[in-house]
Amino acid sequence: MDPNLVTLVKLSLIFVKALVARGLSDGADAPVTHTLRIHCNQSLLLLEMERCGERFTADMKQILPDDRCNLTHFIREYHVFSFCTEANAERIGCFWPNPQVERFIIGLHQRFFSNCTLDPLVFLDPPEHTLTLLILIPVFLTLAMVALVVWSSKRSDVLA
Ligand SMILES: *[C@@H]1O[C@H](CO)[C@@H](O)[C@H](O)[C@H]1NC(C)=O
Ligand SMILES: *[C@@H]1O[C@H](CO)[C@@H](O)[C@H](O)[C@H]1NC(C)=O
Ligand SMILES: *[C@@H]1O[C@H](CO)[C@@H](O)[C@H](O)[C@H]1NC(C)=O
Repeated sequence: MDPNLVTLVKLSLIFVKALVARGLSDGADAPVTHTLRIHCNQSLLLLEMERCGERFTADMKQILPDDRCNLTHFIREYHVFSFCTEANAERIGCFWPNPQVERFIIGLHQRFFSNCTLDPLVFLDPPEHTLTLLILIPVFLTLAMVALVVWSSKRSDVLA
């Protein structure tokens, strides 16, 4: 199997795992995670995300402009970035992923990869396809999370 694909699957599994954990914590019996969420310092979180982003920006500068849309060339840097956001969010007691982290990651995708998807050849080229998926996963998960939060608040309305 393509090692890029393996990394991508791993990446999306991390997101899904966090998503499920979050879904469960929105249920009845998770006072601990609710406490964590209250203690999450959003401005500190944003500072940490910006530091991860700065490192990613510096890493991407090392990659030749022609290779910046090529997953093979930046997957390692992307993985470091992804790990950085996760480790730091957890260290300061915030959920990962969470809406602020996602907004930051989506902004970063737009900054670095917006030109990559504009090429109509994207849809003919399997490696670029993977890139499109990579960009769409956080977008999709954000939507899924919004739906989940709405759904679970509706459900508790019904149960209440
Ligand atoms: C959150 O973090 C910022 C930046 O480190 C700090 O200035 C602020 O006092 C913190 N707020 C709380 C409530 O801990
Ligand atoms: C991406 O980079 C790899 C390694 O340099 C190369 O083999 C591959 O052809 C490149 N893919 C594209 C679409 O340029
Ligand atoms: C995207 O393309 C525009 C126009 O060619 C250019 O100004 C911009 O710097 C490019 N962005 C990236 C991230 O390469």
